[in-house]
Amino acid sequence: MSATPVDAPVLHDPRTYDHGVPYEYYRWLRDNEPVAHFEHPTYPGGYWAVTRYADVQRVSRDAATFRNAPDPFIDDGSMGPAPQEAGTSELLISKDAPEHIKLRKLINKGFTPRRVADLQDRLRARTDAIIDGLVDRPGCDLVHDLALWLPLHVIADMVGVPEADRKQVFDWTELTFGFDPAVTAEQRQQAATEMFLYADAMCAEREAEPRDDLMSVLLEAEVDGEHLTRFQIEVFFMLLQNAGSETTRNLITTGTLALLEHPDQLEVLRTDPGLLPTAIEELLRYVTPVIQFTRTPATDVELGGRHIRPGERVMMVYSAANRDERAFVDPDRLDLRRDPNDHVAFGAGGPHFCLGANLARLEARVMFEQILSRFEGLRVDGDPATFPRVSSNLIDGFAELPIAWDRIVPAT
Ligand code: HEM
Repeated sequence: MSATPVDAPVLHDPRTYDHGVPYEYYRWLRDNEPVAHFEHPTYPGGYWAVTRYADVQRVSRDAATFRNAPDPFIDDGSMGPAPQEAGTSELLISKDAPEHIKLRKLINKGFTPRRVADLQDRLRARTDAIIDGLVDRPGCDLVHDLALWLPLHVIADMVGVPEADRKQVFDWTELTFGFDPAVTAEQRQQAATEMFLYADAMCAEREAEPRDDLMSVLLEAEVDGEHLTRFQIEVFFMLLQNAGSETTRNLITTGTLALLEHPDQLEVLRTDPGLLPTAIEELLRYVTPVIQFTRTPATDVELGGRHIRPGERVMMVYSAANRDERAFVDPDRLDLRRDPNDHVAFGAGGPHFCLGANLARLEARVMFEQILSRFEGLRVDGDPATFPRVSSNLIDGFAELPIAWDRIVPAT
């Protein structure tokens, strides 16, 4: 075993990711300490970081041992020894069987492949409109002018938020779930409360007069004679805004950057657009928008030769597992033809596997199709090493990413 690198990054600290994900350190961990222990200001027993693909899969799939409660989010340590007031224990992603299974069955009624496929035309029209809005400009910020809008509108379309209310809902979403360090805890709390009350009013309207939207489907959904409560639907509304927006946005931004930084691969895709679905899987693996989630063992457990006690958090580092040379040939290479590609960007299997995976794939397909076909001379405007990144230990991506182009061609 080689010595622990001096200044080893602190994996729960958002500042660790200010200049990107520490892939070199992950490699060291995989080779030397695949189940590594870290101290943490809030968790008395510290936490364990799991970096090998096979171990991440084992934790993710053994839900009886590795629980999601009280929540799978790691405290970023910024509050010192005072625990983070997360308010996340009611979310679907914080539940375990049997409640999780029941909730997920009910929610799945609103997430059928047909409902996702039905969004396709609206998605294309929306993407065209977003790009049309840029035609007179020589460049823009890929994050705020392009990538951010589609995921926000898709969730709003799905849930049934009227156009007139969208700006307000999007503002609340950014304040509540965004990673802008300038937003205070009070502002975050205020926005979350207002969004929750808004979801409550939407539920009341749908109860009185059902429509063809997710809110109405969830209100009517029934499994074994049980329904979702209004509170459960409102909490799910909040989770959707969070889970569906930041993640997909960062796949679009960091994925576009990866393509622009690999012109040979971009050329492969331009000459063979049919490769796009395979290419998106590789972009998901290569950029891994969700860095990690944690689990908390209910009993003593051995993992990678280490003894983990009940209550000690276990971090599944997806970004490390997706670069594990034990699972992928030449893992640091972007290879858009990689197939098979059993990446863990949507989770490593098990009951919490991303509910929106197919929707995210569809959004990415439509967006990348349009970016590839409509922008001529697309390029990054500056040095990506200097662009500010999202301040988060959960989501990897850019807060700003300036791009420029020669011309935007009309939509076909
Ligand atoms: C590129 C985009 C996305 C990525 C990388 C991503 C990634 C993930 C990951 C890693 C998990 C945890 C899996 C686990 O614990 O096993 C998850 C869960 C979840 N995702 Fe996504 N996600 C994306 C987009 C979406 C979208 C568009 C939606 C909704 C419209 C969504 C809804 C959810 C929900 C509801 C859960 C919790 C499921 C549960 O606990 O049962 N995600 N996602």
